[in-house]
Amino acid sequence: MYSQKIIETLSNPKNVGEIADADGIGTVGNASCGDIMEMFLKIENDVIVDAKFKTFGCGAAIASSSVATELIIGKTIDEALKVTNADVVETLEGLPPQKIHCSVLAEEAIAEAIKDYRAKQEKK
Ligand code: FES
Repeated sequence: MYSQKIIETLSNPKNVGEIADADGIGTVGNASCGDIMEMFLKIENDVIVDAKFKTFGCGAAIASSSVATELIIGKTIDEALKVTNADVVETLEGLPPQKIHCSVLAEEAIAEAIKDYRAKQEKK
């Protein structure tokens, strides 16, 4: 059911964990399956210099988180906001239809973490 790329990513997921002094944190969940994804971003001059995730969810959600962090590290926050779940699915070489919502969590987690970063910037 999973592509070779997903299996490889699951055997060696990248950027697992949290960033203690993260500049933006996004937590999202899917009400129907109950899975939760937390994204931590380190941002310097609006560029994402580090990203880590903690995902309590299915394999597709973990693989989506891993490739999402890889896709956004080095990007500006505006560029990162343009990373969609379709980009995540493409990087994973496809997801079964019933697992597409898992990739949506990654897109939402990035957006939430950037929202959190922007809110904190405004308070400074
Ligand atoms: Fe819900 Fe994968 S089954 S995130």
